[in-house]
Amino acid sequence: MYQHFRTDRLLKEVSTLGIGGPARYFVEVKEVDKLQELLSFCYKEGMRFFILGKGSNCLFDSQGLDALVIQNKIDFCSEEEPGHFVVGAGYSFSLLGTQTAKRGWSGLEFASGIPASIGGALFMNAAAQGQETSTHLVYVDYVEQDGKIRRYMKEELTFSYRFSSFQKMKGAIYRACFILKPSLEARKKQLQLLQARVSTQPYQEKSAGCVFKNPACSAAGRLIEQCGLKGYRIGGAEVSTIHANFLINAQDATSQDFLDLREYVRKEVERQTGVKLEPEVYWIHDEAL
Ligand code: EPU
Repeated sequence: MYQHFRTDRLLKEVSTLGIGGPARYFVEVKEVDKLQELLSFCYKEGMRFFILGKGSNCLFDSQGLDALVIQNKIDFCSEEEPGHFVVGAGYSFSLLGTQTAKRGWSGLEFASGIPASIGGALFMNAAAQGQETSTHLVYVDYVEQDGKIRRYMKEELTFSYRFSSFQKMKGAIYRACFILKPSLEARKKQLQLLQARVSTQPYQEKSAGCVFKNPACSAAGRLIEQCGLKGYRIGGAEVSTIHANFLINAQDATSQDFLDLREYVRKEVERQTGVKLEPEVYWIHDEAL
């Protein structure tokens, strides 16, 4: 098995934030049987692993990761019946949003422009402009830790704001089925949502998306801006001047720069407003696996 693994992969190359040291082992999977084989191998060998999609909500440690990083590239998309889409976990969420809307299906228009894989979007229950990944989900086929595939109907899973049951599970998402609704407005809505995203978010910068969850009382970005933190910098990490809930890798930032800036922003917002912000970006380091 070890001969299939790369040992020279820098995680910053597979992260939208552009931060991360070397993975001890790295492998890409395109077929589900390979994913099953890898998970049962890790289970038997007691090897730590991390399932990677498009690396968009992850802060990898600059020290690297003493684990096997499995990049899920199972990227098929098939329309089994009109409006019924079965999609591999490695498929682009953004592409799915654009393609379904173009064909007149509504429910995933918001996905257009989100730099996630289907697996990552389900894991985080990605959402925007009032739509959520889980809303039109029917089932997920999941590779358990021992390599066996189990189907979870949506009703057996919990989804809420930036949360899914997958965050507490130990295997890997293989594929998902969504049933969308016909709509003559789908394409128009998708283009409007994409335009709104592009004009309010720093999409040309290296970032991991929004860093804090929105608290009940306000938007995290608004609070951070009100505290005068836009443009604040620690090392190479900077609070975006476009959207304050995005911390960007402005210049060769390390994971420590990013963590220090995140902590500074969290403390400053609490000091000035009394609101405690909660992070939504995962810090992937050895102790976390
Ligand atoms: N705002 C500011 N200053 C800023 C940023 C925002 O005053 O620097 C204000 C805006 O003017 C607006 C309010 O805050 O009145 C909300 O801003 P926005 O519409 O940009 O949405 P958001 O609440 O900041 C959420 C999600 C985004 C998602 C957008 C669009 C969270 C933490 N963020 O952002 O998700 O794309 O809505 O629906 O829930 C992500 O999770 O990574 C993410 C980017």
